[in-house]
Amino acid sequence: MHRSAGKKCRRGRGAVAGEDAGTGKVGVLVYIVYLGHLPSTDADASEPGGFSAVEFAHHGLLNQVLDDGSSASDRILRSYKRSLNGFAAKLSEEEAHKLSGMNGVVSVFPSKTLRPLTTRSWDFLGFPQTPKEELQLEGDVIVGMLDTGVWPDSPSFSDEGFGPPPSRWKGTCHNFTCNNKIIGARSYDLTGSSSESSPLDDAGHGSHTASTVAGMAVANVSFYGLAAGTARGAVPGARLAIYKVCQGEGCSDADILAGFDDAIADGVDVISFSIGSSSPSDYFSDAQAIGSFHAMRRGVLTSAAAGNSGLDGGYVCNVAPWMLSVAASSIDRQFIDKIVLGNGQTIAGSSINTFATITNATLAFPANGSCDPESLVGGTYSYKGKIVLCPPQEGHLNDGSGPLLAGAAGAILVTRAPDVAFTLPLPGLMVTQDNFDQIMAYVNSTSNPVGTIDRTETTTNTQAPVPASFSSPGPNLITTGILKPDLSAPGVDIIASWSPLSSPSDNPNDTRKVQYNIISGTSMACPHASGAAAYVKSFHRDWSPAMIMSALITTATPMDTPGNSNATALKYGAGQLNPTKAHDPGLVYDALEGDYVAMLCAAGYTQKQLALITGSNTTACANSSTTTSPGLAASGGDLNYPTMAASVEPWSNFTVAFPRTVTNVGAAAAVVYDSNVEAADELVVDVSPTRLEFSAQNQKVSFTVIVSGVAMAEGEVRSAAVVWSSNEHEVRSPVVVYAATDDDDDAQQRA
Ligand SMILES: *[C@@H]1O[C@H](CO)[C@@H](O)[C@H](O)[C@H]1NC(C)=O
Ligand SMILES: *[C@@H]1O[C@H](CO)[C@@H](O)[C@H](O)[C@H]1NC(C)=O
Ligand SMILES: *[C@@H]1O[C@H](CO)[C@@H](O)[C@H](O)[C@H]1NC(C)=O
Ligand SMILES: *[C@@H]1O[C@H](CO)[C@@H](O)[C@H](O)[C@H]1NC(C)=O
Ligand SMILES: *[C@@H]1O[C@H](CO)[C@@H](O)[C@H](O)[C@H]1NC(C)=O
Ligand SMILES: *[C@@H]1O[C@H](CO)[C@@H](O)[C@H](O)[C@H]1NC(C)=O
Ligand SMILES: *[C@@H]1O[C@H](CO)[C@@H](O)[C@H](O)[C@H]1NC(C)=O
Ligand SMILES: *[C@@H]1O[C@H](CO)[C@@H](O)[C@H](O)[C@H]1NC(C)=O
Ligand SMILES: *[C@@H]1O[C@H](CO)[C@@H](O)[C@H](O)[C@H]1NC(C)=O
Repeated sequence: MHRSAGKKCRRGRGAVAGEDAGTGKVGVLVYIVYLGHLPSTDADASEPGGFSAVEFAHHGLLNQVLDDGSSASDRILRSYKRSLNGFAAKLSEEEAHKLSGMNGVVSVFPSKTLRPLTTRSWDFLGFPQTPKEELQLEGDVIVGMLDTGVWPDSPSFSDEGFGPPPSRWKGTCHNFTCNNKIIGARSYDLTGSSSESSPLDDAGHGSHTASTVAGMAVANVSFYGLAAGTARGAVPGARLAIYKVCQGEGCSDADILAGFDDAIADGVDVISFSIGSSSPSDYFSDAQAIGSFHAMRRGVLTSAAAGNSGLDGGYVCNVAPWMLSVAASSIDRQFIDKIVLGNGQTIAGSSINTFATITNATLAFPANGSCDPESLVGGTYSYKGKIVLCPPQEGHLNDGSGPLLAGAAGAILVTRAPDVAFTLPLPGLMVTQDNFDQIMAYVNSTSNPVGTIDRTETTTNTQAPVPASFSSPGPNLITTGILKPDLSAPGVDIIASWSPLSSPSDNPNDTRKVQYNIISGTSMACPHASGAAAYVKSFHRDWSPAMIMSALITTATPMDTPGNSNATALKYGAGQLNPTKAHDPGLVYDALEGDYVAMLCAAGYTQKQLALITGSNTTACANSSTTTSPGLAASGGDLNYPTMAASVEPWSNFTVAFPRTVTNVGAAAAVVYDSNVEAADELVVDVSPTRLEFSAQNQKVSFTVIVSGVAMAEGEVRSAAVVWSSNEHEVRSPVVVYAATDDDDDAQQRA
């Protein structure tokens, strides 16, 4: 998210299936045809070039359904053949339908277009700068960024002191000069009009996220003096591999899947994915769920943004249990800006305004109440030199572009997200509707209304961390028994690297060029978690993605949302990321491919589909439901997940059981953990056994948590936590029970 607070996963409109698949042919769209695992017989599978057996098979399959005289070569845009099996092709609806019924096809779905959804933030998390001697350890870790590209000349991406890339690295650099920091870079534009593209970041977003993950420490960074300090990523010693899957219009599923296909085969360790939609899709009609599943099979964790549709009634996206879903919260630094009215009244708002002070400028309310460029420019009244007051307008982007074009001195805009400071293209501030009304009352009361706007000031937010207004909340609409988002990380007013090809306000008429910019979104929270995952991976090369996720989730710090206890756990999951603790979690909840497959079986995916996805015909769905809670198994609650969630019928008493197994990853060979329940009064949480004894490292011990309670109202949420404590570690799992509302059901049908 950048300029339009709370819109969808990043900015602008939501993704509509095929809305800009752009084939130029009526009724023909770009579809993804997903075929599951790669046949192991294909010797070429991991070769980037060449026409392999897998491609022949794709062409053969497609040719079987084409009857308009065209051939598969005219239609296939890309074969996915390095890490997963499938292709993107231009198809009619009828052709897509035919394909979906064919042998060997898991799913066929239109390629949607998604949106790409410092420094201080790490200090706020209590995460120290990496000492020199540990940089080398990080040098073996490679993070794949699926984003808008990168601006390589930023000092954050200097490779000073770096050795050559790890020898296992198979990635390449296309139309881009790599160094020993950025060791791979490619760009994809399968559904776009131009075949030429470069991994250079023309949006800023990709440079921002990449530097948050692995930027070198750069001293004396600021945005025109604001947020001054040392900018750094979580793992400054780690390598970056750039997969530019977002072009100007957005990020197509076809490009996203290409990015995953390459990143996994190239040998990345962690994938950072700050892209999403306003609500999740079914797992095998969702490029990122498919891509991250194949990543998980190869031991690669995908960390993703939870979405920015919290103010629009949307729900958390990127919910697959094999990926980490990251919510956004505030840090202790806040930016405020003030207007002093002619009557002496001071009104505070938020914005990043580093322009010179404007003194006693006339306040002007637009004649027709609209700040659209058409209303402000070319009329009889001139807004030149005035401060324009912009009321909210349904469906209009109130971003100051109208006042800027009209030559206004400044602007006052209404915001729904007063917790976020946006960078405006001219002096101004964003205020709540209440404050806007106060300004209007003053304007109406005098014949000569004036105001003075000063530069933005920095203050301390003593309540932080608080979940960001725009951060998409749960419940998880796809698998109700898996708590999403998983955890929260800083995503409000974060300073990090930027691209000079994009203005800091995103407005092309804003001529400023900056190396570092302050922006907000779950897009900014995600790379904090990706970086923390890379940090954990640098200590534990052999940990599975589930072990790393567990380490991050069980060591997160619980957060309070003052005065809003209902929203809390569904908004931020386990709490705020704590990278320092995460590298030594004591116990982890592990899960491997077979565990996810059992969950998918229980959730109703067919044995035939799952056999294609896993490439194993021993996948036996019938046996998966071995626990005492069959309903829970179908909803995902049986998966060995580090949190426990259940959706229950409203107005009925309930009992749910969560079978779990923990693995001892602490240093001590013999260790005892005792359970502690932090329960809300309204839940009864019974843990059995209450003591776990380990005599060896990597030993696994199982237990069951039984949660019961009396009837809840629709929409009510209750939470508690199960904490396993030893002398050295605390392993905390939130427990969340919620009563579904009709809204959830509606949303689920839409999803
Ligand atoms: C290489 O990148 C430049 C922009 O840096 C772009 O204009 C050009 O089209 C790209 N070339 C190819 C072959 O993709
Ligand atoms: C940071 O900037 C200040 C003022 O411009 C300067 O005095 C100081 O030496 C700089 N520090 C570093 C480490 O460059
Ligand atoms: C702005 O206007 C106020 C009220 O009329 C006046 O007190 C103040 O001195 C003016 N400021 C400047 C810098 O002219
Ligand atoms: C930038 O300015 C040009 C003309 O000066 C105008 O046509 C265009 O709409 C402006 N762009 C934005 C985003 O305001
Ligand atoms: C101020 O006047 C405008 C129209 O001139 C009106 O729409 C608005 O309700 C008034 N606001 C206040 C707070 O008085
Ligand atoms: C599993 O698949 C392989 C190859 O497709 C086949 O040879 C084998 O007979 C199958 N096994 C079973 C139990 O169906
Ligand atoms: C499923 O159950 C059958 C019979 O109970 C058993 O033979 C088989 O091994 C089981 N399969 C799995 C994958 O557990
Ligand atoms: C739910 O539990 C409460 C407390 O145990 C009990 O009083 C009530 O009758 C139960 N309601 C139903 C519908 O079983
Ligand atoms: C939580 O939600 C329920 C149902 O909507 C409502 O009755 C209750 O008052 C809410 N509690 C709080 C603290 O907001």
